[in-house]
Amino acid sequence: MEQYVIKGGNPLVGEVEIAGAKNAALAILAASIMTDETILIENMPNVRDTNVLLEAIQEIGATVERVSKSCVKVNGSTIQALSVDYEFIKKIRASYYLLGALLGKYKHAEVPLPGGCNIGSRPIDQHLKGFRALGASVEIRHGAIVTQADELKGSHIFLDVVSVGATINIMMAASLANGRTIIENAAREPHVVDVANFLNSMGANIKGAGTDVIRIKGVEKLHKTEYSIIPDQIEAGTFMFAAAATRGDVLVRNVIPKHLEATTAKLEEIGCEVEEFDDAVRVMANRSLRRTHVKTLPYPGYPTDMQPQIAVTLAMAQGTSIVTESIFENRFKYVDELSRMGANIKVQGNTAIIDGVSSLAGARVCASDLRAGAALVIAGLAAEGITIIDDIVYIQRGYEDFEVKLRSLGAEIEKVSSEKEIQKFRLRVS
Ligand code: EPZ
Repeated sequence: MEQYVIKGGNPLVGEVEIAGAKNAALAILAASIMTDETILIENMPNVRDTNVLLEAIQEIGATVERVSKSCVKVNGSTIQALSVDYEFIKKIRASYYLLGALLGKYKHAEVPLPGGCNIGSRPIDQHLKGFRALGASVEIRHGAIVTQADELKGSHIFLDVVSVGATINIMMAASLANGRTIIENAAREPHVVDVANFLNSMGANIKGAGTDVIRIKGVEKLHKTEYSIIPDQIEAGTFMFAAAATRGDVLVRNVIPKHLEATTAKLEEIGCEVEEFDDAVRVMANRSLRRTHVKTLPYPGYPTDMQPQIAVTLAMAQGTSIVTESIFENRFKYVDELSRMGANIKVQGNTAIIDGVSSLAGARVCASDLRAGAALVIAGLAAEGITIIDDIVYIQRGYEDFEVKLRSLGAEIEKVSSEKEIQKFRLRVS
């Protein structure tokens, strides 16, 4: 298993380029098979999750052509099967976006039930509620969701919880339903808007994405398009906190500052200077950081995917901070690992009470999920001494060339896969 080995203590300084948004790309890849014409997608992040979903759509018969590292062509006219193999949903939950895409296009889809994951049980009842409202039958057969409809008819759907996945899945199916669909209490994340814009560029008729009421007028069919995915605001925010935690000065390029407002506000609150440009933000942290309170909320609130990153930064700030996780029920697993690096954090239910310490000490730690893993990298970059992070496969799910980008900012970090390589690293940096 590959690991990261880090020698902490270097402030991150320089410029870093952000890739396309993983959570937009996954839904857009699923939606791209909803036409029989060829789709060109640019600014595709080259990360494990998108590569697995590309394999999944090839497996059901779609034609995929890699034009470059960040550009792919998809043609769904060759699809033979409407059933997605368990191996894909096991690797990435977002394979469930193929439910909405296949149901919309073929009025039939079979996708294994996604299990829970390391941050919570993650039910998909709202997705299925939406499909049923559109007139589809939904059954669970031998661990798989089987949904089909003679005809999909527009409906007025009120989501019981604000759900990114359910909003996107229902939006896809409704795009090819007969009549009008209204989704109330819809998620407003930038990637929901990106998927709506992508579908509209294919000829769909979706209005209101980015608000909590989305109106969809079903169309007969969708057509070819060329589309560029929005920058990944979570990757951007991760680098912003890495700059803050290492007292650095980093220009994060290829971002949409508006998508980063909640993150920027918190960074300024804890004592960083953030300068905004048209498509970049600069984070400077040349003094000690202060405590704050933060609660994760649906967009435009503070993002849950940025919760571990701010918590690790607050672990080295002055004073006592409180982080409340309101979206997922189990997203503090990384705290035990941080405590092994000297952090002083107490988790009570969905709240973490963080007493800042002057510095963390390097240790051998283990990534439990994607964003927790990224937070442990930030901890290692700021800590004194050597940190080894196991199970970095989680981090590679959502961060393209993470260690390469960090090295370009002055970090001492390497991807290794043996004790021998770790010893070589220790000798080189000592
Ligand atoms: C998406 O997950 C993201 N994943 C997550 O990012 C992100 O944390 C989450 O949205 C919230 O922003 C992708 O886009 C691939 P939800 P999703 O449905 O769609 C409950 C990362 O690190 N819920 O908005 O699964 C659910 O349990 C990942 O990139 C239901 O109860 O999240 C949760 O408490 C981690 N029933 C809340 O809603 C449902 O049918 C929000 O979940 C659906 C969700």
